This record gives sequence, C-alpha cells and structure tokens, in this order.
Amino acid sequence: MIDMTVDVELAPHEQRKSKPADILQVSFGTVFTDHMLSMEYSEKIWHPARIHPYRNLELDPSALVLHYGQGIFEGMKAYRRWDKCYLFRPEKNFERFNSSATRMVMPTINRDEALQNLIQLLKIEKDWIPQARGTSLYIRPTMIATESKLGVRPSEEYLYYVILSPVGPYFKSFEPVKIMVADQYVRAAKGGVGAAKTMGNYAASLKAAEKAKEIGYSQVLWLDANENRYIEEVGTMNLFVRFDDELATAPLQGTILPGITRDSVIHMTRDWGFNVSERMISIDEVIEGIESGKVLEIFGAGTAAVIAPVGNLWYKGHAYQVADGGIGELTQKLFDQLTGMQCGQVQDKYGWVTEFS
Ligand SMILES: Cc1ncc(COP(=O)(O)O)c(C=O)c1O
Repeated sequence: MIDMTVDVELAPHEQRKSKPADILQVSFGTVFTDHMLSMEYSEKIWHPARIHPYRNLELDPSALVLHYGQGIFEGMKAYRRWDKCYLFRPEKNFERFNSSATRMVMPTINRDEALQNLIQLLKIEKDWIPQARGTSLYIRPTMIATESKLGVRPSEEYLYYVILSPVGPYFKSFEPVKIMVADQYVRAAKGGVGAAKTMGNYAASLKAAEKAKEIGYSQVLWLDANENRYIEEVGTMNLFVRFDDELATAPLQGTILPGITRDSVIHMTRDWGFNVSERMISIDEVIEGIESGKVLEIFGAGTAAVIAPVGNLWYKGHAYQVADGGIGELTQKLFDQLTGMQCGQVQDKYGWVTEFS
C-alpha cells in the first residue's frame, strides 16, 4: 500500500525504463529510476512536495545556481533484502543537509517530513532497489538556487528534489585503493565551506583528482590549507589510520565533511574497545608509521564506498605501501558489520536502521 500523503503523478507504464539486467555492470550513478520528488520554495515558504515522472529541469539560464554555485546535496542509500527495505541513519543526512543549507544561506527543510516523503518515493520505486550484496539504490537529495538573476546574493527561490540511482559497489571490488596525497592543491580552509556538502567543493577537487589519475591513483587525500601538513579527508570519504591500538581520524574543525559513516565507525570501534581519537594527524607521522610498521591499516569511510581499504599512499614522488598492502583486519570487520547491518543481516544494536516495505 502506498501512503498518499504527497501528490503523486505516476509515469505511464509504457514510458517506464527497463531495469539493468546486471547491476554490477552498471557504472555508478548512470541509471535513474522512473520517478523523482520535487518541492519548490518561493515567497519564503516551501510549497507542497510532489512525486512525478523523472524529467529534465527547466531553469532560466540566469538561475543563480548556474553562476554562483548556491547548491547543496546529500548522498544516502536504500538497501533491500527480500521484501524488506532499509535506510541507514537517514535522519543524519537530512540534518547535514540542513547544516549545509544554513552555511550556504539557503532555507532548511523539515527533517521528518523530508524523510517521510523520501520513504513514499522509495515505496513507489521499490522494485528498483537491487538485492545483491554490495548493491543499493543511491539517493541524491539536492537543493539549488533557481531565481533568475545575475548578482551575488542569496536566491529567493529554490528547488529541492530527490533522484534515485541503482548502484553496484563504488569500487569494482573490495580491494585496496591507491591514494595520492595532494601537496599542491587544497580542498578547504578554516572558515570556508569544507563542512558543507556544496557543489563547488567537488568542482574544486577535480584538478587534483586528474593529477592522481595521471599517475594511476584513484583518489586524493587532502591536507590542511594552513600548513599543508595535517591529513583532512579523501575525495568522498573520511580517513582512518590505525597506529598500533589507536584508531585516529581528523577532527571536525569545519574543513571536512562530518561523515555519517565516520561517526558510525567511531561509535562501533569505541564499543569494540579501541582507543579512538579525533586529532590532528600529520602526513609525516603517517609516513613514519608506515615505515616503522606502527601503521597497521588505513581505510576510508563513506556512504558510496562504505569502507575502503587503502593499500598504497603516494606522497611527494614516493609510493608507500601500507602494511602488507592488503585488507586490514579492522577494515574487513567494519565493512562486514556495516554492510550486514545496512541490509538487515547483522543485528542493529544502535537503532541506526529504518525499515520499510
Ligand atoms: C568530501 C566527503 N567526505 C566524506 C564523505 C563521507 O560522508 P558519509 O559517510 O556521510 O557518506 C563524503 C560523502 O558524502 C564526501 O563527499
């Protein structure tokens, strides 16, 4: 049964797309479902949300987002096992969406309504949620400044929309990734917008990512903008370094995205008895730790990749293999626990999973 609290226009059956035969062959974020959700803001209020067929947006070429980048988004996933579907800490994504909105001088949305509306959309698109382990329906809530105007000031009109994309694993397999430490480019400085999930942060990251690709590395590890010395985060993940029995990650000081996977890893590993610290970690400390054997494992944590083992770091012209270059024991355990919890196979003792069917 579909709960019709939002106005719904269903796509005619003959216009619906065929679903990918093998989701593992689809590249991330290239296929979208039949419906989307939209909600407009003008005259200082949000108008009722609507679910309707997936379609192009109509925007004036002078829309503020196209010139000054006033736009934010979120990334979350719906998982399915048999008839049951799951979301992982979705309220956290809407809370972060609202902090991004506040930082970018955009209106916030009602967290609980946004979640209910999303669940309604997901119920309509349930058949699009893939079931194989490691697959999911990626959810992209977005807000853009739509007012037609040239001039740097906050828009008076916005569009909030949600699109859905069935995806396989972000990295082709759960194998160690190679990361290039950026020593010539920076992502975010204190007082800037690094903690907001705003479009420009990603545009600003492209140049360094291109350099990484040139040398055969798949991701970039950013250092702080002040001293170019302390590790911040990876392209779409927060980073954890295990030094003997300490698990360390960069602190939240406004320059990195406060990852929901990061927060979950901190909770779980503290629960498992690790000494977990959110502290400044210099790249020299990491390199020295790799050389002395003190660094036992390094991994990234984020919704898209879940947990990604890091096998190799490139810094200032040298490649450093992390431990034996394979998948660390804690990395594997976190991956298994998180992916298990996200699809209802591992008991959710933290109350993180929202179930719907
Ligand atoms: C820059 C950046 N850092 C970290 C993350 C990880 O955040 P989360 O675990 O909430 O997906 C993401 C992904 O959204 C990201 O884009």
